[in-house]
Amino acid sequence: MTKTNYAMTARQLAALIEGIPHEVANLANASALLWQEMPDINWVGFYKMEKGILVLGPFQGKPACIEIPVGRGVCGTAVAEDAVQLVYDVHRFPGHIACDCASNSEIVLPIHVNGEIWGVLDIDSPLIGRFTEEDKAGLLDIVGILEQNL
Ligand code: SME
Repeated sequence: MTKTNYAMTARQLAALIEGIPHEVANLANASALLWQEMPDINWVGFYKMEKGILVLGPFQGKPACIEIPVGRGVCGTAVAEDAVQLVYDVHRFPGHIACDCASNSEIVLPIHVNGEIWGVLDIDSPLIGRFTEEDKAGLLDIVGILEQNL
């Protein structure tokens, strides 16, 4: 599997969104960039906390569920635990919400703004065990750049 060059991707993301005061545009470009740079994924995008629930934001991939309560699915668990969820096999994750039946593994990272959870970055893959600790570290850097620009 070709690996993602996260250092280069982080520089590209910073160049795309730094100083741009348009949240939807920045998230749309971030999802498009990750879609372009990450092999073997079938969905990448954002859910934003709105009035206590996660609401679908900009993404690439098939249409997805619009609202996810905190504590439900992989995304809601990432918020409830305020922790990255690196799921080797989604079919073994209790309460996993299947938006695209092609998904077999998933990584979800909480995004923080002003000390609170702003929302999550969610990425799905058709491959079991697609995401590694290396992806988690690279994506934490990506999330860090987003956090400075939301
Ligand atoms: N699988 C996610 C739902 C969102 S879709 O993957 C885009 C979950 O269990 O939270």
